[in-house]
Formats: sequence, C-alpha cells, structure tokens
Amino acid sequence: MPILEVQDLVKDFGGLRANNHVSFSVEKGELLGLIGPNGAGKSTLFNCIAGVYHVTSGKVFFEGQDITNRRPYEVSRLGLARTFQIFTASGDLTVIENVMVGSFLRTRSRKAAKNKAEEILDFMGLSGQEDQWVSELPVAAQKRVAMATALATQPRVLLLDEVAAGLNPTEIEQTINVIRQIHFDMGVTVVLIEHVMELVMNLSQRVIVLDSGTLIANGKPENIRQNPEVIKAYLGERYAAQITSSGESA
Ligand SMILES: Nc1ncnc2c1ncn2[C@@H]1O[C@H](COP(=O)(O)OP(=O)(O)OP(=O)(O)O)[C@@H](O)[C@H]1O
Ligand SMILES: [Mg+2]
Repeated sequence: MPILEVQDLVKDFGGLRANNHVSFSVEKGELLGLIGPNGAGKSTLFNCIAGVYHVTSGKVFFEGQDITNRRPYEVSRLGLARTFQIFTASGDLTVIENVMVGSFLRTRSRKAAKNKAEEILDFMGLSGQEDQWVSELPVAAQKRVAMATALATQPRVLLLDEVAAGLNPTEIEQTINVIRQIHFDMGVTVVLIEHVMELVMNLSQRVIVLDSGTLIANGKPENIRQNPEVIKAYLGERYAAQITSSGESA
C-alpha cells in the first residue's frame, strides 16, 4: 500500500484548472521530486493534499485512509507535514517559539515541546540560534526553521515546497545533506517541489512532472532529464544541451 496516494485530483479556481486529473502515489520511504514550470500547479497540489484547499474532485489517501478535504490540522495530526513556499514566519516569534508551534501538535507540555524543538534545531544545525527573531535571519536559515517546524510535528510524510529557492551553491549543498538526513536518518518519506535541478535530480529516486496542471511524466531522474516532452515544457535548452554534450563525450 502506498503511504500517499492522489487519485484523479482536480482543482479549479473559478475558470482556471490548476490541477487536471492528477494521479500518482508515493511509497513508504521514497524521496519523490515534483517539478514543472511556474504556475504548473505544484504548490496547489500540496495545498490540496494538506487540506489547505478543498479539492474540486478526486481523492487523497494517506496510509490507506481517505484524507480528502480534511482540515490541515487533522492532516498534520495524522502524520503528514508540509512547508510553505512563502515562509510567513511571524515576525514576533523567535526560532525556538516557531519550532515549538510544530511540537505542540504532539504534546501539551511546554517543557516537552521545548525539548523536542531543541532536538530538531540541533539536528538542523540551528542550535545557538534559538532566541533569534526568525524575521531577522538570512533566507537559508529561515528555510531551515520552516523545515524544523514541520519536522517538530513528527511527520511520516514531509512535503517540501522550494526549500532551496534563493540559496547560494554552498547553502544548496547543505540543504541537500539536510534532506538526505531527514529521509535516511529520520526515515521520513519526502516529496519535494524544486526548481533547483541540481538538488532535485541528485536527491530524488523518482520525479513527477506537472505542466499546466497535468501530470506529463513520472520516472527516474535520468529518464525525466531525457524526456522530450519534459524538455519542451520545462527543462528547456539548457538541459537539452547538457544531455547532448554528455552524449557526445560518452
Ligand atoms: N488561491 C488561488 N486563487 C486563484 N488562483 C490560484 C490560487 N493559487 C494558485 N492559483 C493559480 O493556480 C495556478 C497554479 O499555481 P501554483 O502556485 O500551484 O503553481 P506552482 O507550480 O507552484 O508555480 P511556482 O513554480 O511558480 O511556485 C496558477 O495559475 C496560479 O495563478
Ligand atoms: Mg509553487
């Protein structure tokens, strides 16, 4: 049984179809990449899965349970967490307070919530920054706080929405390592939306591609890279050129 299954999902915003009969599943322990052009419907799909948006039609199953149109709080409670593309950390929360918002999902004790938050911050390489205002941190650290907050809910599936956007190459490398650890050491199943191809192609065991709301490809990164439809819709000539040149040198 897949840990997450999306069946024939449609999401309309008025006359705009943001997700067009999307179906895919995620196996327990998988690390799945979700790519596609701007406006393809990737974040919308996460929002539908996580209960932020009501779906127009279709179904979402988590660990075999129908979670379609459940409220976000209930979905997190069941063990499915997500980060938001635009991290709107409240300016008047510190790093530790932010992460405790996540840990309070599993405990009412302030002490237990703080301990869990500290454990996660340590894991994320953020210890020592507990008392800083999130709004005053550099973007890379803010993205880590967003991941830490989601992790503090102790998810079995984690949806990451562009956690590498705006980062420099060193920070991207660090993010790749952090996601590997979340996946491998914590044993969390991960689905990640990303435009940074280095990250998505390095990390993902499988990649799915959305274009104008429709799923156009589903396969191993090496196959996705060479898929003519994906190149045309998204990866473009930069990637096509790399494929050609690597083909020539082989
Ligand atoms: N709340 C909303 N109300 C109306 N339209 C929306 C809403 N959210 C998204 N859309 C529209 O749905 C489409 C898909 O948007 P979405 O944000 O899911 O794309 P995306 O693949 O995440 O893009 P990006 O890579 O730029 O983040 C876009 O045309 C967008 O304008
Ligand atoms: Mg998006």
